[in-house]
Amino acid sequence: MTLSQQPTRRLLVATLALSGVAALSAQAAEPVDQQLQEYRQAAQTFGKTLKGELQAAMKQGGPMAAVSVCHERAPEIAAQLSEETGFTLRRTSLKPRATPPTNWELAVLKDFEARRADGESPKTIEWHEVTTVEGEKRLRYMKAIGTQEVCLTCHGTNVDPDLKAKIDKLYPEDQATGFEKGDIRGGFSITAPLDG
Ligand code: HEC
Repeated sequence: MTLSQQPTRRLLVATLALSGVAALSAQAAEPVDQQLQEYRQAAQTFGKTLKGELQAAMKQGGPMAAVSVCHERAPEIAAQLSEETGFTLRRTSLKPRATPPTNWELAVLKDFEARRADGESPKTIEWHEVTTVEGEKRLRYMKAIGTQEVCLTCHGTNVDPDLKAKIDKLYPEDQATGFEKGDIRGGFSITAPLDG
């Protein structure tokens, strides 16, 4: 080997070693990434289905009728999607109407508020972790849900008194009013055993 070849060779060995490390960590990240993609898809389907039914109900029967649709259909859609995907899906919030957060969801939602205060958009705010629960690896995921114009009728600062009375009858502990457009209304929460 000539002197001039030697550095090239060393460089090659170093490059191979580096790519080996990269391949290993890619392998470890792969099941998580794949499952995260499925979670994102499920959260999106959940949100779209709810919003579709909500808007149809508002158009057809107004907000009073739409409250009943939210009351009945939101848990049904969550249950149906959970069954279809094998993941546990739900929605929760720091100011809940129906579903208060668990301890870890509470911590994540608080972090979402901090990220929002730092200027991040609810559209992109998400979080995940791999955790071991009773010896089983689980992937937990949350995605922020932004407050849109259409949400204000039932979650805004100025909810019609008759409508609020109907909401309070169904949810005596309701805290889910006083939101403004762009606020984080809550989050989708998805958990399941980590595959692979
Ligand atoms: C017609 C009234 C109405 C409108 C409009 C409405 N919601 Fe709700 N929302 C409800 C009701 C009722 C519940 C409780 C549903 C249940 O029992 O699971 C709820 C629950 C929620 C929850 C679950 C967390 C919690 O507080 O328990 C989230 C998140 C949420 N709404 C977000 C939204 C968003 C985002 C929009 C706008 C796209 C919206 N809502 C529009 C009535 C409404």
